[in-house]
Amino acid sequence: MRYYLEVSGCQMNRLDAEILDGVLRRRGWERVRSPKECDVALFFACSVRRHAEEKIYSHIGSLKNIKQRNNLIVGLLGCTAQLEKENLFKRLEILDLVAGPGALRDVPDALIDLQNGAKELLLLGKENTSYDKLRRCDEAPFSAYVRVVSGCSRNCAYCVVPRARGRAIERPPEEVLCEVEALSKNGTKEVILIGQDVSAYSYNGYKLADLLRDALKIEGIVRFGFVTSHPTSVNERLFEVMASDERMSRYLHLPAQSGSDRILSLMRRNYTVKEYLETVNTARRIVPELELASDFIVGFPTETEEEFEASRRLIKECVFLNSFIFKYSERPNTLAALKLKDDVPAKEKQRRNIELLKTQEEASLLRKQRLIGQKVRVLVEGYDKKSKKKMTGRTWNNHIVVFEGEAKRGDVVLVEVERVTPLVAFGTVVC
Ligand code: 5AD
Ligand code: SF4
Repeated sequence: MRYYLEVSGCQMNRLDAEILDGVLRRRGWERVRSPKECDVALFFACSVRRHAEEKIYSHIGSLKNIKQRNNLIVGLLGCTAQLEKENLFKRLEILDLVAGPGALRDVPDALIDLQNGAKELLLLGKENTSYDKLRRCDEAPFSAYVRVVSGCSRNCAYCVVPRARGRAIERPPEEVLCEVEALSKNGTKEVILIGQDVSAYSYNGYKLADLLRDALKIEGIVRFGFVTSHPTSVNERLFEVMASDERMSRYLHLPAQSGSDRILSLMRRNYTVKEYLETVNTARRIVPELELASDFIVGFPTETEEEFEASRRLIKECVFLNSFIFKYSERPNTLAALKLKDDVPAKEKQRRNIELLKTQEEASLLRKQRLIGQKVRVLVEGYDKKSKKKMTGRTWNNHIVVFEGEAKRGDVVLVEVERVTPLVAFGTVVC
């Protein structure tokens, strides 16, 4: 059996896809690069924004001719599947399988059933972390996501994830540590602990800071990171762990979403801009060389020009290394969809999006310029895709560095930075 697998969305979907990929190959299936050459085509879809969902629907729809020719089996998996359920079969006639994140362990058997003539299989399940046990640690990636929390128990007004992935379920620490150890034995160099709100991790009082301290006892992993953190769930103890060991990443993804208190309150984010700034200051005071990243939503219902400008000011004040900027997208049955009118015109959202990207680009350049003349520690990932002769890697605070000099994947080298763009620092290995 040959299968094609495509993923969109965040690290959760990516990890889910990676695990399924490993399971299918263990069963002797072969992964191919094009849906034209396969027996089964699987798509992990993200439900956070409507536009992304529609793109994947039209992409899947375009396989109609191939399906007729090759008897192709087509599956849509992940968050969108859980949300839209059987409606997807109506929307996309071509679909044979719809499986939510909590039912992925049943996918391989369902594919066999479909080959044997079953029709329109809908697999839904409660999100459960036992799926992670199927991970093939013998195929350790260079940089590995390790799930510590699945789902999310927050109530951000715009967000569909708690409906798509359910409330937060924390994995027992022993299970996480066992996985990290196995990955390390098999050659993984970087471990990134993931959760929708990973810093809120708490297992019978054992917190993310405790988990990181125990993970740091495992040898072989050269860098430990974590994403994503809600601004109210980080604290000094966590920052102290980040500062305590040079194997800890000095990068904090702390989505602000808006620079306006009124919008933050409508979004139900549970913090004010002042509190956000205090958290940023505390983090920077405790963690040397810390870089921060954020997410922003522009055009949230009722957002005025002034409130949008406040987001701009926040980017300037915090000088984020990068920000992911999104146009508000109304999602079914979210609090915002039920209570607020999506009243910022599409054109205006687009303008605000471009403006904020520009402001962020200026901030990114400022952060990069600080590196010029400095020697930075880089974990080498391999050859740079563009120049081929040069190598690339990232610093401990997540700057992308492209450099010349002797090094191989997995090495840790010192690079002297000579020139920068908003996204990349260029330099030469000094040792
Ligand atoms: N519209 C636009 N952006 C959204 N995000 C989440 N939900 C929505 C939505 N309905 C963004 C947030 C979040 C990131 C993963 O996606 O900024 O942090
Ligand atoms: Fe990830 Fe959320 Fe998109 Fe699912 S809906 S893929 S959890 S961003």
